[in-house]
Amino acid sequence: MELKPKACLLVLLGLCCIMRSLADEVFLNTRLGTIIGKKAETTFNGKTGNVNAFLGIPYAESPTGSKRFRKPVPKANLVNPYNASDFGPACPQDLFMMMGWVPGYPYVDEDCLSLNVFTPENAGMQGNNKSYAVMVWIYGGAYVIGQSKMYSGENLTLVGDVIVVTMNYRITSLGFLSTGSSKYPGNAGLWDQQLAIKWVHDNIESFGGDPNRVTIFGESAGGSSVLYHALYPGNKGLFQRLITESGSPLCPWAYQPDPIKYARRLANKLGCKDNDLDAAVDCLQKLDAMTVVNNSRVGSQDDTVFRAEWVPNYDNDFIRFPQNRLFSSGIDMFKDLDLMAGVNNNDGAFVTLLAIQPFMVQQINKTFDKGITRDFFNNFYIPFYFKDYRGNVSQLTKDTAAHVYTDWRDLHNDIYTREKFLQFSGDYNFFMPVLSSIRAHANSSSKSKTFLYQFKVRAAFNKSPSWVSGANHGDELPFVFGFPDLMADGMGFRDNVPAIEEQLSTNIMTMWSNFAKTGDPNFPVNVPDAIVWPEYNSDTQRYLRIGLNKSSAYQNLFGDRASFWLKLEPEIHALERAKSNHNYQPGLGIPVIVG
Ligand SMILES: *[C@@H]1O[C@H](CO)[C@@H](O)[C@H](O)[C@H]1NC(C)=O
Ligand SMILES: *[C@@H]1O[C@H](CO)[C@@H](O)[C@H](O)[C@H]1NC(C)=O
Ligand SMILES: *[C@@H]1O[C@H](CO)[C@@H](O)[C@H](O)[C@H]1NC(C)=O
Ligand SMILES: *[C@@H]1O[C@H](CO)[C@@H](O)[C@H](O)[C@H]1NC(C)=O
Ligand SMILES: *[C@@H]1O[C@H](CO)[C@@H](O)[C@H](O)[C@H]1NC(C)=O
Ligand SMILES: *[C@@H]1O[C@H](CO)[C@@H](O)[C@H](O)[C@H]1NC(C)=O
Ligand SMILES: *[C@@H]1O[C@H](CO)[C@@H](O)[C@H](O)[C@H]1NC(C)=O
Ligand SMILES: *[C@@H]1O[C@H](CO)[C@@H](O)[C@H](O)[C@H]1NC(C)=O
Repeated sequence: MELKPKACLLVLLGLCCIMRSLADEVFLNTRLGTIIGKKAETTFNGKTGNVNAFLGIPYAESPTGSKRFRKPVPKANLVNPYNASDFGPACPQDLFMMMGWVPGYPYVDEDCLSLNVFTPENAGMQGNNKSYAVMVWIYGGAYVIGQSKMYSGENLTLVGDVIVVTMNYRITSLGFLSTGSSKYPGNAGLWDQQLAIKWVHDNIESFGGDPNRVTIFGESAGGSSVLYHALYPGNKGLFQRLITESGSPLCPWAYQPDPIKYARRLANKLGCKDNDLDAAVDCLQKLDAMTVVNNSRVGSQDDTVFRAEWVPNYDNDFIRFPQNRLFSSGIDMFKDLDLMAGVNNNDGAFVTLLAIQPFMVQQINKTFDKGITRDFFNNFYIPFYFKDYRGNVSQLTKDTAAHVYTDWRDLHNDIYTREKFLQFSGDYNFFMPVLSSIRAHANSSSKSKTFLYQFKVRAAFNKSPSWVSGANHGDELPFVFGFPDLMADGMGFRDNVPAIEEQLSTNIMTMWSNFAKTGDPNFPVNVPDAIVWPEYNSDTQRYLRIGLNKSSAYQNLFGDRASFWLKLEPEIHALERAKSNHNYQPGLGIPVIVG
């Protein structure tokens, strides 16, 4: 490793202070050749230091032509030296939705499989034999949108003193089309992530990283991906720890039970009408990538209220069990990895605003603005959700759900009822899948550690309607990454981050990076504000509630609701199955765990 300061001339010209950080290139010798990154000063909440960024390093061959829709092929040769000075393009996706999430970065290209490495100053360089814990980020976006560029790792690297890696992976049809055959089994996007994770295992030592202290972490679809990786035995040894923020493979939106239907529809829509579905998809490989993506919304509104068309599917390779059995079989590797998982108190508001409300407006012209009536909740929403969950609704299950989600203070208060609906929606789409996964982990009699959090902060940037209390889905992201400038437009926090939020962000980055270093968010660095986060176990079920002013430990997150979804409802279901031959679904999304 050598440093090549280009600053000398600029110093003479007196421009040093403006230009220095832009001009500093760092040269790193790796097994792949020399990689040229850039060093820049970064400052967060009173801490300042240099961070190196190696951006846009390709880890796979371009997934185009006959490689489209299929497992990625590892990059054979990197140009040497490789100038890693800029983020690579995002993978093709709906540009309209992409601009809503990350305004200002509409650059997509099918040759998008690149990753970015952020390292503390001098990591991997001569004279610094320190070996850093590594955090590998998988973005969310429902497997429909997302790009690594938004999650710039400088501030997390600075505050956490860790290496941060972010990657692009394929999404929408390009990432998740499946014909059910061995040629197009699906899950290409998960294989992309896996290849990037393997790249980290194989190469991170050159960057000063410790390949035996790798944490994979992600939010929403990134979080469900993290746990999918933990369930794939081929990943053994590639990472040691897991962080999932508001995501689990048990979430309804994280699993597609009928991928072939959509593959057929897409092929038909684009004139690839061969009866043999694989041949029809061969034909799709010849079309322009954005044409394919722009036509990928082939599901009806009814089809896609709960999950997008193109999400992970059972392929008996990467995903080896149907969704409802994922955590009851084959969790040998998962149970031995340290796990931190959490949810935001109002994750349910996100799906309500994004999918449920538009659906309602279109179907029956109803919005949530003035609350919802008890009648509507009991007789429309509950059956509607249970239809997705079980395929049919028994009156007893409906009545029991209505009982649990009633605010008994005033049955005619539509605002209270709306609040109950937000809980219901959050429970079905996020909390119960996450709780169920974390219980499977905590209960697995292994020495690994388990931690649960609830993030409950209404941040200054939160633009949700005022009836969405606390944190909406994704609101923790700026805190986890230290309010990176590339996230500012999308989340809307430019130049107005209150000091108290910067401090909370420091605390969160400290806990997250502590966990990456030791498997325990409390060590080795003292968490500011004396936060103590107790381990979760099936007995006490303790978790950390992260608040703006104060974070404290509590027990039994959503205990009454969890008892309904994870104990009572499955029991009722089992009874009814026993006495009739109704064709109920096996409870997509949540396994039957009694306890
Ligand atoms: C790397 O690329 C950047 C941006 O294109 C350019 O400014 C820089 O000079 C390049 N560095 C080398 C060593 O080629
Ligand atoms: C790291 O370097 C220092 C100084 O060069 C040396 O004393 C120490 O033994 C090294 N540690 C390891 C683990 O190699
Ligand atoms: C895809 O859709 C975007 C708008 O969302 C449009 O700008 C672009 O031209 C379309 N590309 C193709 C090839 O249809
Ligand atoms: C939908 O509801 C609004 C307000 O209640 C009303 O003004 C509008 O006419 C309704 N539209 C339809 C199509 O029923
Ligand atoms: C749904 O369940 C009800 C009773 O629980 C039953 O009467 C009805 O036939 C079932 N419908 C289907 C399609 O299975
Ligand atoms: C780090 O955080 C500071 C303070 O919020 C912000 O101004 C800066 O843009 C962040 N750095 C990067 C590289 O995003
Ligand atoms: C939290 O702290 C902020 C700023 O110090 C203050 O305005 C707010 O009232 C506090 N909130 C609570 C719930 O204590
Ligand atoms: C956890 O394990 C205990 C004892 O092994 C068992 O009784 C309980 O049902 C399990 N709970 C869950 C949620 O799996």
